[in-house]
Amino acid sequence: MASISCKIATFSFLLISIFLSISIIKVCEAQARPPTAKGLSYTFYDKRCPKLESIVRTELKKVFKKDIAQAAGLLRLHFHDCFVQGCDGSVLLDGSASGPSEKDAPPNLTLRAEAFKIIEKLRGLLEKSCGRVVSCSDITALAARDAVFLSGGPDYKIPLGRRDGLTFASRQVTLDNLPPPSSNTTTILNSLATKNLDPTDVVSLSGGHTIGISHCNSFTNRLYPTQDPVMDKTFGKNLRLTCPTNTTTNTTVLDIRSPNTFDNKYYVDLMNRQGLFTSDQDLYTDKRTKGIVTSFAVNQSLFFEKFVFAMLKMGQLSVLTENQGEIRANCSVRNVNNKSFLTSVVENVAREFIEM
Ligand code: HEM
Ligand SMILES: *[C@@H]1O[C@H](CO)[C@@H](O)[C@H](O)[C@H]1NC(C)=O
Ligand SMILES: *[C@@H]1O[C@H](CO)[C@@H](O)[C@H](O)[C@H]1NC(C)=O
Ligand SMILES: *[C@@H]1O[C@H](CO)[C@@H](O)[C@H](O)[C@H]1NC(C)=O
Ligand SMILES: *[C@@H]1O[C@H](CO)[C@@H](O)[C@H](O)[C@H]1NC(C)=O
Ligand SMILES: *[C@@H]1O[C@H](CO)[C@@H](O)[C@H](O)[C@H]1NC(C)=O
Ligand SMILES: *[C@@H]1O[C@H](CO)[C@@H](O)[C@H](O)[C@H]1NC(C)=O
Ligand SMILES: *[C@@H]1O[C@H](CO)[C@@H](O)[C@H](O)[C@H]1NC(C)=O
Repeated sequence: MASISCKIATFSFLLISIFLSISIIKVCEAQARPPTAKGLSYTFYDKRCPKLESIVRTELKKVFKKDIAQAAGLLRLHFHDCFVQGCDGSVLLDGSASGPSEKDAPPNLTLRAEAFKIIEKLRGLLEKSCGRVVSCSDITALAARDAVFLSGGPDYKIPLGRRDGLTFASRQVTLDNLPPPSSNTTTILNSLATKNLDPTDVVSLSGGHTIGISHCNSFTNRLYPTQDPVMDKTFGKNLRLTCPTNTTTNTTVLDIRSPNTFDNKYYVDLMNRQGLFTSDQDLYTDKRTKGIVTSFAVNQSLFFEKFVFAMLKMGQLSVLTENQGEIRANCSVRNVNNKSFLTSVVENVAREFIEM
């Protein structure tokens, strides 16, 4: 939609002045977007749930006013959803290896329990306003978008129309799709290339670590038995105080300069060898990504632009649309487990029929 109106505007201005139109083309390029997946659209809920975006934003403003740390939890939830089996809300299901109640989940996949509650709360508010038309995967994507904006990051439209998956990912599939923080850049680039994410996307998305926290065990490999020589000495000394042994369960912030603000300081940290994970710090060591890190550290607008582009790519990984999957009545269980499933399907069909 945006690109069409862009072209029309450019065309009519062309008639007036070529000089003017060149500057407009530049503005259009600044809003570059990856292709939209089939079945998703920027107007998907305009009729189905017109207040969707304002309901989500108003609620999240309230949540973050009480506790801004929840923004990081919601951003990471969307990342885990999309990387493991596509953005289908599978991460939300009870039984998911990333999910809230999986006993067998690897301890390092510490998603915040509160994030799951916030998504379900939003789902309830949306059902009240619009009926059961908004998927849990779309709510998760919108919550991540708002988490970025409400922490100081860019605001941007995202295409909607995702449907919720019927199956959750196993522990093994989850681990296979989420590279560990001890990975070097080669491993991260190879892993993300399988999702069609290029080095600029990788460096941009890693900028998600400009907010939030980590548990000690995600980075003690860099402290014990000896400190990673790449790590800034004082930074390492302070981390050893927070994490006195390799089994401490304390946490620390991911971005020491501005832990709760979505900005480009994460890249400044990397240039000062104060990145927390190997997967972060090595982006500044590896020749293929170092220049990208520097360019984001010196230009926040450039980071925001590339981050939005990469988030739009990530947010459309293997989405279910149209007749695939379902709209869950409860984000943590699929409808077929629900005795009221049949009645709900009939209600849904009836509602769509009336809309036509
Ligand atoms: C590139 C590979 C990535 C690796 C290896 C990685 C690894 C991690 C690890 C180990 C943690 C800390 C978990 C803990 O110990 O509690 C973490 C936290 C976090 N990650 Fe990533 N991550 C990656 C990509 C991403 C992406 C793409 C995003 C979003 C765009 C993201 C957003 C976050 C956020 C916001 C937190 C803080 C969560 C909180 O405070 O609850 N990460 N990540
Ligand atoms: C989690 O920890 C396990 C072992 O404790 C490790 O094999 C795995 O790679 C780690 N995964 C992530 C995503 O950190
Ligand atoms: C990156 O990690 C992989 C897997 O651990 C290893 O085989 C490779 O040698 C490492 N590459 C560099 C440049 O350190
Ligand atoms: C970290 O945990 C240890 C116990 O394992 C505790 O003694 C120490 O005070 C904690 N440090 C911080 C900064 O929370
Ligand atoms: C922690 O350190 C001890 C002693 O150095 C070692 O035996 C143990 O395997 C380490 N544990 C982890 C989780 O790295
Ligand atoms: C920073 O990046 C923006 C967005 O790409 C670009 O328009 C601007 O010219 C850059 N600023 C500098 C000083 O390079
Ligand atoms: C959603 O399902 C879970 C798991 O069955 C249940 O504990 C929870 O109460 C349900 N929530 C709502 C709002 O129905
Ligand atoms: C089952 O479906 C009904 C009707 O859509 C819904 O009200 C209820 O919350 C659902 N229960 C669970 C556990 O998901």
